[in-house]
Amino acid sequence: MRTVSGIQPTGNLHLGNYLGAIKNWVKLQKESECLFFLADLHAITVPNDPATLSSNCRDMTAALVAAGVDTKKSILFNQARVPQHVELAWLLICNTPMGWLDRMTQFKEKSGKHKQRSTLGLYGYPVLQAADVLIYQATHVPVGEDQKQHLELARDIATKFNSDTGKDVFTLPEPYISGPAARVMSLRDGNAKMSKSDPSDLSRINMTDNDDTISKKIKKARTDAEPLPEKWEDLEGRSEAKNLLGIYAALEDTTPEAVLSQYAGQGFGAFKPALADLAVSKLSPIRERFEELRKDESAIDAILRDGAERARAAAQPTTDDAYAALGLLRD
Ligand code: TRP
Repeated sequence: MRTVSGIQPTGNLHLGNYLGAIKNWVKLQKESECLFFLADLHAITVPNDPATLSSNCRDMTAALVAAGVDTKKSILFNQARVPQHVELAWLLICNTPMGWLDRMTQFKEKSGKHKQRSTLGLYGYPVLQAADVLIYQATHVPVGEDQKQHLELARDIATKFNSDTGKDVFTLPEPYISGPAARVMSLRDGNAKMSKSDPSDLSRINMTDNDDTISKKIKKARTDAEPLPEKWEDLEGRSEAKNLLGIYAALEDTTPEAVLSQYAGQGFGAFKPALADLAVSKLSPIRERFEELRKDESAIDAILRDGAERARAAAQPTTDDAYAALGLLRD
C-alpha cells in the first residue's frame, strides 16, 4: 500500500483544514507508506502573490509537522522541488482528450462565467494531479468528495496511457475513504463551510488562536435552544448542532452517534463547555509546536528539501518508463 496525497498551501489555517485533511494524513501514516506534498504548482493555476505563496507553503509545512506528520517515516515535500511532476504532466497532457477535461466540475466552478479568461493551467489542473499520483505508483489516494472526479480521471488517464503504449507503466490508484469526512462548517452558519475568507473571525477557529479565544468562539457559536436527541437522524434541520457534534467527534476520534449517547437530553449550556475543553486540550499542543517550528524558516526549508530529494528518487523510474514508452530518446 502506497498512499499519495497533496494539499494546497493555503495560509491562515483553521480547524477545517486540520480536521478535514491534516489529521487524516497523520492517521494514514500508521497504515501505509506515505508521500505527502504541498501542491504549490496547483496553487499557481489562479493568480497568486509570490511572497504569500512562499509563506503559505512554510505555514502548511509547520502545521503538518506540528499536527504529527512524521518526516522520517513519511516523505513530505513541495511539488515545485520535484520537477518530474511537471515532466510527466506534459506527457499526460499530450494523451488526454479535451473532452474528458470539459467534464470536470471543479474547472466549471472555478472558471465561472469567465472561461475564456481562465488559464490553460487551471484547465489542465486535473492532469497535473494525475501525474502527482501516477508518478509514484500510488495504490491509494485519500480523497474528499470534491476530488473524487479528479481521481477517476487519473484512473482513466492511466488506463489510456497503458493501453495506447501497450506498456504497463502506471498503477491504477484506488480512492481511500477513511471514515465519514469531517466537513467543518462555520460557527456562525451551519450551512457554510468554515473558511479563511469569512469576514467574521468568530466563524472559525484559527490555528493560531489561543486557549481563551478558542473557548470564547465555541461558547459564542450559533446553536438552538433544543436539548440534544439520542439519534443523529433526529438532528435533521439543526445544521449548527450537527456541526458542533461533528467537531467534537472528529477531535475525539469517535462517531457523532457515540457523542450523542453521552450528551443526549442535555442542552448546549452543558455541551459547549465540554467541547471547548476538548478543543483546547487537542489544539493547544499543536499550536505551540506550530509556533515553535514556524520561527525557524531554514529548518522548515530543510525538511522540504530532504523530502524532495527522496521524492525525486521515487519519481524517477516511472518518469523514465513513461518517456521510453512514448519512444522519446533521452539518457
Ligand atoms: N486538488 C487537491 C485539492 O485541492 C490537491 C491535490 C493536488 C491532490 N494533487 C493531488 C490531492 C494529488 C490528492 C492527490 O484538494
